[in-house]
Amino acid sequence: MKFFLDTANLQEITEARSYGILDGVTTNPSLMAKEGIRGKKAILAHYLAICNLVDGDISAEVLALDYKGMLDEAHELADLHSNIVVKIPCTMEGIQAINTLTQEGISTNCTLVFSLGQALLAAKAGATYVSPFVGRLDDICEDGISLVASIVECYDTYGFNTEVLAASIRHPQHVVRCLEVGADVATCPLSVIQSLFRHPLTDSGLAKFIADSLK
Ligand code: G3P
Repeated sequence: MKFFLDTANLQEITEARSYGILDGVTTNPSLMAKEGIRGKKAILAHYLAICNLVDGDISAEVLALDYKGMLDEAHELADLHSNIVVKIPCTMEGIQAINTLTQEGISTNCTLVFSLGQALLAAKAGATYVSPFVGRLDDICEDGISLVASIVECYDTYGFNTEVLAASIRHPQHVVRCLEVGADVATCPLSVIQSLFRHPLTDSGLAKFIADSLK
């Protein structure tokens, strides 16, 4: 399973990259705004900065809601760097745009996916990735991991090539469950990746080894 970092923060990206386990980055308009990145020029420059930090797929989201606007933005983003994956929301216009971009050979990530039906549309349109939002389904008392499992199983059954990118990951248990159900990618905040390193028995075991070695 690949690990993507879900952030637009360059320091966090640099930190996660230093662990040697980072495969890519996902961003969204909220994460870009959190970093104070506003305006087309600044947004494009920031995506380029991320691409220069990480040699892996970098999801950059369109802001337009209409088909033509999405395609125009997608072309600008894709022209920025070969690692850019254009993130497009799972709407009717979005699925149409993904279909066109697939025919043009541009990689896409179909985002804001909350049902198996939406995942089917993303795969049929040829999306490179589909992004089910695990935490946001859990927030409304649905089961986000079950959706990831269903998408993985159905894509396998029908031979779809779209990769399942579990998003809206909130804690380490989400990561482990994604691994168990066969997600291709989990995109996580830095804090979640860091929490995977920690185990109290590792700490106490290490403390004892060090103490014994000094006897
Ligand atoms: O990858 C999507 C993610 O950024 C959304 O996470 O925690 O806002 O649901 P969250």
